[in-house]
Amino acid sequence: MSMKVTPETIRAMKQRGEKIAALTAYDYPLAKLLDECGVPLLLVGDSLGMVVLGYPNTTLVSMAEMEHHTRAAARGNTNALLGADLPFHAYETPETAVANAQRLVAAGAEYVKAEGGREILPQVHAIVATGIPFIGHLGMLPQHILEEGGKYRIKGRDDTGHAKLLDDAAALAEAGAFAVVLELVTPPVAREITGRFPYATIGIGSGPDCDGQILVTHDLVGTFPWFTPKFVQPKLNAAEQMRTAIQEWRKAI
Ligand code: KIV
Repeated sequence: MSMKVTPETIRAMKQRGEKIAALTAYDYPLAKLLDECGVPLLLVGDSLGMVVLGYPNTTLVSMAEMEHHTRAAARGNTNALLGADLPFHAYETPETAVANAQRLVAAGAEYVKAEGGREILPQVHAIVATGIPFIGHLGMLPQHILEEGGKYRIKGRDDTGHAKLLDDAAALAEAGAFAVVLELVTPPVAREITGRFPYATIGIGSGPDCDGQILVTHDLVGTFPWFTPKFVQPKLNAAEQMRTAIQEWRKAI
């Protein structure tokens, strides 16, 4: 029988050098399936804005939407550690960060994640001080896509970018994050952060040397065929299989 995964389990996996698999789950069946597959870390990511709700990016996702999907995913999960993203504008002050983190916990999240480093340090301190486990998110920050001119850009390429990433990574360690997602960080910088800090690094498009890897599950299994990030190698083309099955059924009736 599998054991319940906790933040301590994730830390211990880093220490043992055991790779941490993480995937997004937005509803009951997906969370149940991923948990049954033994994926230890699940995230109700605000990427649900694009792959479930049809928004152009994550900036339109609301707290109410995050709570709704977190409740559904939590009902499907037993053993994995399941957390949720604080959406855009939900953690502008330490007070709102804590209040909204508590709403996600009430919906079933066992940790919360927010984007940013030193600039959100008071919020991270406040969340961790209330006893809510926290995952950071550095590198390309999708909630800042409008400031990036709509482009998902690789981070850590020049000296300034490298120094900023290391400073943010240190700030999150100091604030007590148990893991940090590194999105589109150059692989040497991702390796450096992984070696330097005690939390588990979970990479997405940041090379092979992070402690774990996370993907949007729809990208991995091909259920959102209209866009797939360059760094993803889908393992299944589920949308194509569904199209075939639906068309065969339609012709057969
Ligand atoms: O929103 C999300 O799904 C994420 C992961 C891809 C890291 O933040």
